[in-house]
Amino acid sequence: MTARPRIVRTVKALRASIAALRGGKRTIALVPTMGALHDGHIALVRHAHERADRVAASIFVNPAQFGPQEDFGRYPRTWKADIKALAKEKTDLVFAPSVEDIYPEGFATRIVPEGPARAGLEDKFRPHFFSGVATVVAKLLIEAMPDIAIFGEKDYQQLLVIRRLALDLDLPVKIVGHPIVREKDGLACSSRNAYLSPSERETAPVLHRTLKECAAAIKKGERVMEALAHGRQRIEEAGFALDYLEARNAETLETARSLAEGPLRLLVAAKLGTTRLIDNLGVRQILRS
Ligand code: PAF
Repeated sequence: MTARPRIVRTVKALRASIAALRGGKRTIALVPTMGALHDGHIALVRHAHERADRVAASIFVNPAQFGPQEDFGRYPRTWKADIKALAKEKTDLVFAPSVEDIYPEGFATRIVPEGPARAGLEDKFRPHFFSGVATVVAKLLIEAMPDIAIFGEKDYQQLLVIRRLALDLDLPVKIVGHPIVREKDGLACSSRNAYLSPSERETAPVLHRTLKECAAAIKKGERVMEALAHGRQRIEEAGFALDYLEARNAETLETARSLAEGPLRLLVAAKLGTTRLIDNLGVRQILRS
């Protein structure tokens, strides 16, 4: 039988458990999550085991990163399955605080990130999002003090924001990005895929297919703006309401008009019915695979 991870609910208990796991010399990896775990999260936990002696995960659906019209209330919560999956992956510790533990009465400090958090991508459509993410991630990193923390590249802009945050606040933690894990048909694993109706689920891989086509066209010499215009058309024709399909420099997130302004990253966000999906692809990465 797989041992259940130790579950802690308070910051005090988290610190004591991390100190015990560390035992003075062992390294700790943290995998922050909002639960509703899927294969993408499991890959993060597996990678964490490769990079550190002990692995902690956090499960906290962070209200501060949802806007008033967004899906905080209906965000999938699958506690039992999550703990079972984490036990199977030999996770040592799970931090699952309540909203009151993270944001107690009188809480009055928010981090407002700039730089990659003002790239005109997710921030344009979810103006509250990065402030909520930065505040909770800073708290989690300060509370757990891991040696490394692992985040998926599906939330690519988020990864760059968190890297900048750790640098700017001198947090002694290495921020590690992990490649996107995809379903067999290319759809990026996401907790929000659970919202898709069967017909939407069939349409959803169009996002990844379009990213691949744009990347291939750009590599072949098509102008970036033209490849993106075709891609946008394709996504809209498939029935999505497109928020953006953009080519950016993968490190700075500045708009890139040619391969020379790269390394290029293509980033997309679009709604299918009421479900908002995001995805991204490095132009070179696809052509090597
Ligand atoms: O990517 C997520 O699941 C969340 O944004 C994170 C990083 C756990 C912060 O709540």
